[in-house]
Amino acid sequence: VAVVIYNNVPGQGLFSGTVGTIKKEQVATLGVTYEQGTKWAQALKEGASFNATAWVDSYVKNARTLNIIAQTTAGDPENVVMLGAHSDSVTAGPGINDDGSGSISLLEVATALTNYTVNNQVRFAWWAAEEEGLLGSDYYVSQLTPEENSKIRVFMDYDMMASPNFAYQVYDANNEVNPPGSGELKQLYIDYYNSQGVNHTLIPFDGRSDYDGFIKNGIPGGGVATGAEVIKTPEEAELFGGIAGIPYDPCYHELCDDTNNVNYTAWILNTKLIAHSVATYAASFEGFPE
Ligand code: PHE
Ligand code: ZN
Ligand code: ZN
Ligand code: ZN
Repeated sequence: VAVVIYNNVPGQGLFSGTVGTIKKEQVATLGVTYEQGTKWAQALKEGASFNATAWVDSYVKNARTLNIIAQTTAGDPENVVMLGAHSDSVTAGPGINDDGSGSISLLEVATALTNYTVNNQVRFAWWAAEEEGLLGSDYYVSQLTPEENSKIRVFMDYDMMASPNFAYQVYDANNEVNPPGSGELKQLYIDYYNSQGVNHTLIPFDGRSDYDGFIKNGIPGGGVATGAEVIKTPEEAELFGGIAGIPYDPCYHELCDDTNNVNYTAWILNTKLIAHSVATYAASFEGFPE
């Protein structure tokens, strides 16, 4: 996957220091080429004004990055259970909760799985460049032949498993509008949280994580999360504990998303949930729509 990476380190790169009145913020203009970035840099040095809403504040270059995909050798390859977490972070910080947490959960479950047999093949993905616009997962789905696409019976997204001020959030999948099976997956998560005696809330598919390419291409999908920049409400503090009036993850996309920025209660419970989801569908897709 070829992607454009914005090196956002202050003091490094073409735009640093001398951007004048231009707003210094991380640009979201994927598709800007190095040549274009260089042109902007030149113009800025000459004091030209530009009619644009976002500006690169440092060096732009092309980079290559890779999805990591691993699957069981055993199990029916015609019926694949797939799950993913993203291995990249934003440049602003180390991304330990987002999404080191999900990445480690998947490693843990993959390791544990070596002690079990599976009836259906299980495929793990550690996506690249999620933060640059879901590039790794979208590319992966775009490269599937119709036949390979139809073999993936479900995709489960695990992005942000351990937010410090967590909520247990389940994507509100619906078989009427999402690929059939998405609703069954949602119910599996709800049943699991109920079985553990914890509350949950439902969140919409807003296209902000790697399930997006799957459900848009007919593959049943869903996932759970523990919350990003949104402020926890008093009602949610009743349901989950934690602190109302501050974000689920106060260090979301910041430098402080480090190894202190994880809640172990949420992380462990969600890792067990992930294990349960894998165990369920690796054993059987009975009752799950074709
Ligand atoms: N996927 C987002 C990110 O990596 C986090 C997120 C997930 C935000 C789901 C909202 C809903 O930054
Ligand atoms: Zn993120
Ligand atoms: Zn994320
Ligand atoms: Zn179980």
